[in-house]
Amino acid sequence: MTTVTTPTPTSELIAEPWASEQTITCRDDRVGLRAVIAIDDTTLGPGFGGVRYRAYPSTEAAAREAQRLAAAMTLKHALAELPYGGAKSVVMLEGAAPAPGSTERRALFARFGEMIARTAGTYVPGVDMGTLLEDMQTIRDDGGARAFCDEVSPSPFTARGVHAAMRAAAVHHHGAAGLSGLHVVVQGVGSVGAEVARLAHADGARLTVADVDTARAEELARELGGATVAADAAPFHDADVFSPCAVARVVTRDTLERIPARIIAGAANDTLDEPGCAEALRAAGITYVPDFVANAGGVVQVHGGVSGWSEQETLAAIDRIGERVTGLLETGEAQGITPVAAALQRASAALGREIVA
Ligand code: NAI
Repeated sequence: MTTVTTPTPTSELIAEPWASEQTITCRDDRVGLRAVIAIDDTTLGPGFGGVRYRAYPSTEAAAREAQRLAAAMTLKHALAELPYGGAKSVVMLEGAAPAPGSTERRALFARFGEMIARTAGTYVPGVDMGTLLEDMQTIRDDGGARAFCDEVSPSPFTARGVHAAMRAAAVHHHGAAGLSGLHVVVQGVGSVGAEVARLAHADGARLTVADVDTARAEELARELGGATVAADAAPFHDADVFSPCAVARVVTRDTLERIPARIIAGAANDTLDEPGCAEALRAAGITYVPDFVANAGGVVQVHGGVSGWSEQETLAAIDRIGERVTGLLETGEAQGITPVAAALQRASAALGREIVA
């Protein structure tokens, strides 16, 4: 029999048991499984959302993250007009993650797949931080659950959507020239950010790029004839557009006054440190494109793949993110509310319940 270390969380509480439509805890000591599935809202369809596999200090922290991310998926899908609800799961990791392809890892995800299968398709998992395509295949093949196992990377599609969002905001403020001649700073030039920078450059923007991996930033700057800036200085670099494509919560109440850019549009989830930042940005004259609207290109591509769309259909659906952003900015201006509030209004109408930030 295999011996597996079972995570021993310091707390067994779920802080907000009623935060989601369903919050399911999963445990099997034989394979070291401790997981939480949060199904936030299934009004628009089955809850789709990735499986995050990382260490958590407590059950409470794991459950809170699953519920928070599931709620964000509800918004993302509602705004992208996709037939999915919002869900997310977290598998709690203790120590080093079992190697890809190992018996231990396969047993873990097979068992988790069996538990996902019990939701009878109400929760559909996909890849997220710490999980791999092969883990989804194990969930599907060995666990018997429906899982999204598309072998196409979502990142270029996410980047296309972020670029469409950024360009729409630029057109809204600067007219038809859009990004041409504007200075764009991209923070984090990984698989999404680098492509966002290339697309903005192709539109005639001047680029400054930042990454904790400085060699990566320098290489991209050379390719685009742009410049680099230190990763943590990127939000405060003199620019027209700031595109956060790395980590969460880069815009805080304390720092937003130091952001010179008039437009913020990026891929990073949870860009705002807290909901009140949206109003503070509006008061400061900065147009913030909600992250959950801008970064939906990847989920649109997943849906296109599942639905048998042609590449043209998928790309056209992603480009509609730009039209959506224009609509939100117009609504925001007409009603004197933030683009985030305008987006929440739309989500509330789609879901038939009021969603507040
Ligand atoms: P990635 O891991 O390929 O790239 C992230 C880049 O950011 C790396 O080059 C890393 O060195 C850099 N980085 C990390 N910390 C940084 C910091 N403090 N300052 C500057 N650079 C830093 O990730 P990916 O896939 O490009 O995703 C970027 C962001 O977009 C993430 O927040 C992710 O959650 C979000 N996102 C990605 C989607 C996708 O389809 N890949 C979909 C929706 C959201």
